[in-house]
Amino acid sequence: MLTIADFTFDSPFSLAPLAGYSDLPFRLLCKRHGAGFCVSEMISCHGLKYQQKKTLQMLNSTVEEQPVSFQLFGADPDIMADAAEILSTFSPGIIDINMGCPVKKVTKNGAGAALMSTPELAEKILVNVISRTSIPVTVKIRSGPGLKNVNAVSFAQMAESTGISAITVHGRTWSQGFSGLCDRSIIAEVKQAVSIPVIGNGDILTHGDGLNMMAETGCDGVMIGRGALGNPWIFGKSDRPDDSAAILEGARQHMELMEQFLPVERILGYVKNHISRYFKTLPGSSKMRQKIFECKTVTELKDIILKIS
Ligand SMILES: Cc1cc2nc3c(=O)[nH]c(=O)nc-3n(C[C@H](O)[C@H](O)[C@H](O)COP(=O)(O)O)c2cc1C
Repeated sequence: MLTIADFTFDSPFSLAPLAGYSDLPFRLLCKRHGAGFCVSEMISCHGLKYQQKKTLQMLNSTVEEQPVSFQLFGADPDIMADAAEILSTFSPGIIDINMGCPVKKVTKNGAGAALMSTPELAEKILVNVISRTSIPVTVKIRSGPGLKNVNAVSFAQMAESTGISAITVHGRTWSQGFSGLCDRSIIAEVKQAVSIPVIGNGDILTHGDGLNMMAETGCDGVMIGRGALGNPWIFGKSDRPDDSAAILEGARQHMELMEQFLPVERILGYVKNHISRYFKTLPGSSKMRQKIFECKTVTELKDIILKIS
């Protein structure tokens, strides 16, 4: 169990925000497999403020996935506050603020993980956002800007003082990107230093390892990103099935959800991204993935998947 603000989740395992992946179909799938809650792809504060079509499409949701967490990114405290107010009208359960993304497109404007090196600006963003919404606000951070400045503890204390409801800590620095290993000791240190729920994140590839992270660090919950791709079973206690029939059935269910909820022009790209990952551990997987990437239509792709047994 995990409690954030007024929400109590049956499972302390949640789906991490994954740009290009944690869309409505995948969130629903993970929720059906046992995720306590799921976080959307990062949503641009500018895109929201200026009502860009692509951004608005990212706000699709259903009652089944509530309370969902919608993640905002940006570096301008006023625009972030405007965006939070707009986002609130879409009634997410939680608004998460991205202070951990290392991608250049995001950090070059001072947003995402770059905010770990400007805690005063980060504080202003949180204060402004919280003043304009009644929805619980959470924040997702890294261990620090670089290995010489691991500031997650003081950063988390600052964030807690603004009134956020929970904090997720990815145990890598901004400069590490996705290299090296997740440092669990910093997650444990943050847990010791604040009273709000702390969610640990980084490199969890099995359900059991998620439980290990909780035991090792004392964190209240874990967030899983890459380990959930092609593997929504990670949220259930029995983990990924061994037999290919069960894996294929999972892939088919995922495709059905994508067809149900994604705009037609986006389906093929998304289906390829997600579905090829299910085959990673199956015999003949590289041939299968190649076939998937060569497909020109969803019907062609469905035919291939239906024929496998
Ligand atoms: C493809 C991809 C997209 C990501 N998109 C986001 C994002 O939109 N917002 C965010 O805060 N983190 C994002 N992340 C970081 C993940 O949420 C997570 O913190 C990181 O991958 C470490 O967890 P993991 O080892 O379980 O994947 C992304 C990571 C990947 C690999």
